[in-house]
Amino acid sequence: MYSTLLLAHSYNRYIVLLLLVVVIIKSFSAWRNRKPFDKSDDQWSLFLLIFTHLQLVVGLLLYFVSPWVKFGPDTMKDKFIRYWTVEHTTGMLIAIVLITIARISMKKMSSAEAKHKRLFVFNLLALIVILTIIFFSGRGLLKSTY
Ligand code: HEM
Repeated sequence: MYSTLLLAHSYNRYIVLLLLVVVIIKSFSAWRNRKPFDKSDDQWSLFLLIFTHLQLVVGLLLYFVSPWVKFGPDTMKDKFIRYWTVEHTTGMLIAIVLITIARISMKKMSSAEAKHKRLFVFNLLALIVILTIIFFSGRGLLKSTY
């Protein structure tokens, strides 16, 4: 159970990162070149939201079975326990909120330029947060435990 969840969470990270990069590049280019907001822009941002929320669900399940998530007097003293119990979760939740707000608020905007800009800025911030948090895991940005 634990290894399957970790494997799924770890590999889905590549999908989330790839979708983030695609949405960031597409929205930046469309914003700067004043392109209309078309169906593919909407679909890529929807895929990003779906796989990000899938990552959230698997992350939440992992939280209950991971040997690195512990609550006790040593939680904040041990840097590995602290990272997985507090820092990884908090940082990734912030990134997930940014990706979610990007899409929800973009939907309410009327101008294409504003939509592209919103997707670009919020998703870029989310990418920076995710890369920073993964970097501090000490497991390498693209390495997988399994
Ligand atoms: C965009 C969101 C997220 C990304 C990109 C992400 C990425 C990762 C990565 C790369 C790992 C290490 C996988 C490995 O060692 O092979 C991991 C592990 C883990 N993540 Fe996330 N994560 C995200 C969200 C979350 C959330 C929201 C939670 C908790 C609610 C969470 C809880 C965990 C736990 C418990 C582990 C397992 C640590 C272990 O037992 O080794 N993650 N995550």
